[in-house]
Amino acid sequence: MEEFSRIKRLPPYVFAVVNDLKYAARQRGEDIIDFGMGNPDGATPQHIVDKLVESVVQGKNHRYSVSKGIQGLRKAVCGYYKRRFDVDLDPETEAIVTIGSKEGLSHLALAISGPGDTVLVPNPTYPLHAYSFIIAGADVQHIPIGKNVDFFDELTRSMRNSWPKPKGLVVNFPSNPTARVVDLSFYEKIVAFAKEHNIWVISDIAYAELCFDGYKAPSILQVPGAKDVAVEFYTVSKTYNMPGWRVGFAVGNKQLVYALTRMKSYLDYGLFQPIQIAATVALNGPQDCVDEIRELYQSRRNLLVDGLQRAGWQVEKPLASMFIWAEIPEPFRHMGSLEFTKKLLTEAQVAVSPGIGFGQCGDTHVRIALIENEHRTRQAIRNIRKFLNAGGDVSP
Ligand SMILES: Cc1ncc(COP(=O)(O)O)c(C=O)c1O
Repeated sequence: MEEFSRIKRLPPYVFAVVNDLKYAARQRGEDIIDFGMGNPDGATPQHIVDKLVESVVQGKNHRYSVSKGIQGLRKAVCGYYKRRFDVDLDPETEAIVTIGSKEGLSHLALAISGPGDTVLVPNPTYPLHAYSFIIAGADVQHIPIGKNVDFFDELTRSMRNSWPKPKGLVVNFPSNPTARVVDLSFYEKIVAFAKEHNIWVISDIAYAELCFDGYKAPSILQVPGAKDVAVEFYTVSKTYNMPGWRVGFAVGNKQLVYALTRMKSYLDYGLFQPIQIAATVALNGPQDCVDEIRELYQSRRNLLVDGLQRAGWQVEKPLASMFIWAEIPEPFRHMGSLEFTKKLLTEAQVAVSPGIGFGQCGDTHVRIALIENEHRTRQAIRNIRKFLNAGGDVSP
């Protein structure tokens, strides 16, 4: 059979193994409590849905839209950046609407990189951060991130050892899957590093609004001069429970925004206009829904972390994101994350994501997404306690 060169570069999807097992267990009638995917379970706030319904019946909204997004929505994301980060952006040249940040990231990679280029990407990370560049034909240098790793030491070493010199760097904080957070001084160093080495920075702040205990995630664009080197992706998917709507943004550096705009002008006609109009209302309208969504994740985080700790699994309490990045408990550590995930699924009926799915450096951990309700989360804790007490062998 013919092998397609781009497809050849994509390894089998690790999460598919877990999904198959999940499916088989459900077919057997087992109730699997699913903390696997980072897919918000809540409904979109009513006033946003109402705006969609109002706009969808208007024939003028049924035509092709504009690939870079309607002006009102570009203005709305710039308004968000002004209110939240005190960052000024020009909606004409420094902001573009994307079909979710996923589409934006992949087409930016295609626009700015190709064979012979290298990009620095954290490991573990959201798979697309690496694969968008791999699909574009570029190479990826992995920068380990983790509790006992100095990101800047790793970055400097990687830069020194790379030839040809890397063209760009991806950063994602709050991080998926590790839930790590940074403060503004981190981005100050990143911007200085990027300027010194003449590289682009692509920042992804998908979880910027899911912050707890008074922490507030910064934007790289708050650093003076960041726009010279950086573009940032933001999305309404997590902030407003709108993952299925596919609305994201790239903002910042004009040259990068232009490259993506140009690319997209060939590839798409923009999102269905009623979706863009409703997304504008999400950003410009009342924000108490965001507080409610944040509080829900925070209470799930408290419930799960406290429960797991009482059950004997010493996981850390994250300051942001919708994930717990849990180190595999000692007796199971040798198994690696995929085998441990399979065992947890078959013996405790709890599905999580194996850390290896986010990169080699993630194999010591599993990611637990806070997407099950309180009742089911409590059930999962009971199952896990039983599983740990039995040394992993619960079934007769
Ligand atoms: C870090 C990160 N970036 C981007 C995305 C994709 O977001 P969107 O729905 O805007 O495509 C996700 C989704 O899980 C994510 O975790």
